[in-house]
This record gives sequence, structure tokens and C-alpha cells, in this order.
Amino acid sequence: MGHTEERTFVAIKPDAVIRGLTSVILKRFEDKGYKIIGLKMLMVTPEQAAKHYAEHYGKPFYDRLIRYITSGPIVAMVLQGYGVINGARQLMGATDPAEAQVGTIRADFAQLKEYNVVHGSDCVESAEREIAIYFKPEELCIDWKNMTELVTEKEDLK
Ligand code: RTP
Ligand code: MG
Repeated sequence: MGHTEERTFVAIKPDAVIRGLTSVILKRFEDKGYKIIGLKMLMVTPEQAAKHYAEHYGKPFYDRLIRYITSGPIVAMVLQGYGVINGARQLMGATDPAEAQVGTIRADFAQLKEYNVVHGSDCVESAEREIAIYFKPEELCIDWKNMTELVTEKEDLK
């Protein structure tokens, strides 16, 4: 059937951590059935921030974006699942919370695109690059099965 599992990098941004939204945001991804294979709280260093947002270097909002992402702790995670890269971004909603669909994380928990509470990789290459910025391979916990994997590991899905 060609269902392939992907990995993505998701971060609960400092505004959300400060506001005590870590658990409710994490729950959106867990409830979807995505498998958490990496999870930690950290202060993003200026070097990590510059690497992460290299594509936005030179844009008008770049300096503010770097200040924002380094302003407090983030909760960084690696999620694994079927179509998780786009799926996680669908759960997050549009970059600007004012344009995000009701029911998405950004629509439900944010008002401004400068403080939009969550990040998710936008493609396979970004995901691999971003995971490597924040996690060492040995920090990933891959040797277990979550319930989604247990109920989908039927021959017809392989
Ligand atoms: P993210 O990378 O955080 O998952 O968000 P995204 O793909 O939806 O949006 P992106 O274009 O990659 O922008 C990265 C982050 O920069 C901030 N931003 N501010 N003031 C502005 O016009 C503006 N545009 C983007 C947001 O925090 C956005 O998430
Ligand atoms: Mg982006």
C-alpha cells in the first residue's frame, strides 16, 4: 500500500512554555497517534537559532524571530508517524493564527504570527536538518512501539 513513516521536528515555542501550554499542545500530537521518539526542554542557543532559521536570514522579521526563539525554553520533540510532516503542520494551522482554521493549535492558542506557539518542519529535508540541530542520534528513543504502530502493523499496510 506504500504507507511510509516519516519523522519531523516539532518545537513548543517559548511563549507557549511560559503560558503553561506545553501539555495541551503536546497532547494534540499524541492524540493524533504520532509517536514521540525524542523529547526535551532546552534553551535555544544563538548558534542553533541561526542554523534553524537560516532560510529567513535577511528578512525583516529575522532579528525578532531569533530573539523570540531564544527568549525562553522550548520543548523540542521528534515525532514519527504516517505523513507526520504535513500532518503535524495541519494540526498547527497557518503561520498567522488569524488565518488558521479554528481547531488548529495556532488558531486556538495564539493571536499573532510573531508569537505563534509552535514550530514544525516543512519537508523531509528540513526535518532531517532540524532534528540534527537539536538531537543527537542516541537521544532518540526508537526501540518501542506505540499503540498506533501496534494496531497498524498489519500486512496490508506494508
Ligand atoms: P515555523 O517554521 O515556525 O513552523 O512556521 P512556518 O513554517 O509556518 O512559517 P515560516 O515562514 O517558516 O516562518 C518562521 C517563523 O517566523 C515567524 N514569522 N514572522 N512577522 C512576520 O511576518 C513573520 N513571518 C514569520 C513566525 O514565528 C514563523 O513561525
Ligand atoms: Mg517554517
